[in-house]
Amino acid sequence: MAPNKIVDIHTHMYPPSYVKILTSRPTIPLVRSFPGASDPRLILLEAEVPLLNQDDAHSTGHLPGRPLTKHYSSLAQKIHFMDTHDIAISVISLANPWLDFLSAEESTGIAREINQSFSDMCKEHPGRLYFFATLPLTAKLEEVLGCIAECTKLPYCRGVILGTSGLGKGLDDPDLLPIFKSLAEHGMTIFLHPHYGLPNEVWGPRAEKYGHVLPLALGFPMETTIAVARMYLAGVFDAVPALRMILAHSGGTLPFLAGRIESCVLHDGVLVKEGKVGPGRRTVWDVLKEQVYLDAVIYSEVGLKAAVDASGVDRLMFGTDHPFFPPLTSDEEGKWESVTLNAEAVDRAVGKGSKEAQKVMGGNAISVLRLEGE
Ligand code: URA
Ligand code: ZN
Repeated sequence: MAPNKIVDIHTHMYPPSYVKILTSRPTIPLVRSFPGASDPRLILLEAEVPLLNQDDAHSTGHLPGRPLTKHYSSLAQKIHFMDTHDIAISVISLANPWLDFLSAEESTGIAREINQSFSDMCKEHPGRLYFFATLPLTAKLEEVLGCIAECTKLPYCRGVILGTSGLGKGLDDPDLLPIFKSLAEHGMTIFLHPHYGLPNEVWGPRAEKYGHVLPLALGFPMETTIAVARMYLAGVFDAVPALRMILAHSGGTLPFLAGRIESCVLHDGVLVKEGKVGPGRRTVWDVLKEQVYLDAVIYSEVGLKAAVDASGVDRLMFGTDHPFFPPLTSDEEGKWESVTLNAEAVDRAVGKGSKEAQKVMGGNAISVLRLEGE
């Protein structure tokens, strides 16, 4: 293994066929053009709906969502971004909200088409690109399982990207167990990524003045934290011990809150009475060290150190979240501050040029996701 390769495991694309679907939609997620704006706007989040519906704001250039630049769909642009940041390998994934909004009838066919387009992109750049596939979670169980089986035959597929809604009831839903078991049996890693955040009311009546800060900085990580805590409490990790998950944004707040979750478990009368707190119980800490990997997309050494303390330096993997968070005051074709912030945080957390930094920046991803020798 070349130990100093940089690998980006958190990097998204929307293939043109997916953008076409978004462009045809009247409700979020959608793509819409506005007079005077050079790029169409990508409107994804519930928190962006108030501004979407405020016509008078649009005329003053206060537009909802974010510009849908060529960075979202162009493979050449992805490779340019990788080259600009010395990224040797990217594990690309469809961005949120994946296929969550499609009907049961359409989702399987579209999943197949999207996964094939990711597979084709990887084939164009052998050894530089791998991908996390997308599952048609609104379809029947057998179709989802069929999709997993198909994905295992795609040579550059290394797992699936998953949101927190599962089949509509969250990731502690027992009906998801066959899917988790199938993924585990096939050695497919889940990349767990948020989309829904927290309800808009949480952000208060002045939320519009704060742009995307609250939903992205706080809503996303809390969503991930809650989803994994629910899985833990439901016993999913014990039921599927071979399940492996990479948690976006360094696990949300899980490394920071694991101790509090543990204490609440130990002191919960209902759980104690049901015999769920006895000897042999695997703690949240055990799960974080045995079944969970964390990306390094937390932009500060404080969060990264918590991630290393919780899961271990062998379980942390660098990511960029490209094409989200582009530079707003410098050239998008050059270096992105959102990337250098994360890379510098790794240096500060584990030591610039250290063996640990090499692991986080690429070595861990190469060995965990089997990214060499294809
Ligand atoms: N990053 C993502 O991956 N998705 C968003 O919607 C925003 C930031
Ligand atoms: Zn992301």
